Amino acid sequence: MDEFSVNINAGNGYAVHIGSNLTAECGKIISQVVGKCRAAVVTDSNVEKLYLQPVMKSLEDAGFDPISFVFPAGESSKNLHVLSEILESFADNGLTRSDIAIALGGGVTGDITGFAAGVYMRGIKYVQIPTTLLAAVDSSVGGKTAVDLSSGKNLAGVFLQPSSVICDINTFSTLAPDIFADGAAEAIKYGVLTSERIFDVFERGEVRESIAQLVSECVAIKGRLVEEDEHDNSVRRLLNLGHTIGHAIENLSGYTFPHGHAVAVGMVMMSQAGERMGFTENGTTDRIEKCLIRNGLPTYTDYDPEDLYNAALSDKKRSGDNITIVVPKRIGQCELMTIKVPELFDIISLGAQR
Ligand code: GLY
Repeated sequence: MDEFSVNINAGNGYAVHIGSNLTAECGKIISQVVGKCRAAVVTDSNVEKLYLQPVMKSLEDAGFDPISFVFPAGESSKNLHVLSEILESFADNGLTRSDIAIALGGGVTGDITGFAAGVYMRGIKYVQIPTTLLAAVDSSVGGKTAVDLSSGKNLAGVFLQPSSVICDINTFSTLAPDIFADGAAEAIKYGVLTSERIFDVFERGEVRESIAQLVSECVAIKGRLVEEDEHDNSVRRLLNLGHTIGHAIENLSGYTFPHGHAVAVGMVMMSQAGERMGFTENGTTDRIEKCLIRNGLPTYTDYDPEDLYNAALSDKKRSGDNITIVVPKRIGQCELMTIKVPELFDIISLGAQR
């Protein structure tokens, strides 16, 4: 099985390792970037049962002194209360500034562990071991960390790049099909953004066979955008394709509609609006819809454009009277468009027309 390594030149620079059976190798890989130390592995109650034991063993074998903290699985754990429990556990176990945190799991685990690492003793190093496709292609790379507040998702956090990312593609085999599809939506997003090749593979449905290479291509695209705009002020915002409407759908559903599924619908609506404005090449929406359906993803929502617009207004990408949206030009090319906030209503309405 192929192994890939993608270097990200942000923070202190780090490698994203992608391959088979890497959870069992993680101790060795981590020892290449940090000396022997105490390693606090943070994971959730689902991933604990599957991968905590091999990760702890690998760390011990490589000379680390590992401890673990397990929290209840689910987005509802991504809050300040669980964050404070993680920090207390770091302190109770005597973690010092030269020790490390390790996020073992999906996006929730990566986001909260990265945040804990960013504020514990004013910052310690951390490593990401993503176990979902979504975390592998998106949240484990780029240094965005966060917890949710009562007013919205990801409202408190810090930018902190990991010291290493270790993506074991075998972990995807235990994902339920809709969780895998959720990550596929983010991967298809990279295809629509800059890579017709990635899009083609998903369009043909030949994903599982070349998943390591696909993840490495997605990570490379994200890496280049993060290197150019680490703090999300310009080109990194391209990664928000489908997210303005997607976040609105998630918000209206009370966060029961999965993130990648919502982004899928958001991409279709943006492309549809782009075609109707004469900006997007004709036929783009049709291809995106067919590709998403082929990969088990939804392509429309029943929510009313007005409700979507109102929910989208709470999006943190808004700045004053303006909002920046991402519109496909064609498969493999998208552009940022800064519009007045009320114009978003017209775009959503155009995108909703069938
Ligand atoms: N998930 C989008 C970003 O990392 O910028």
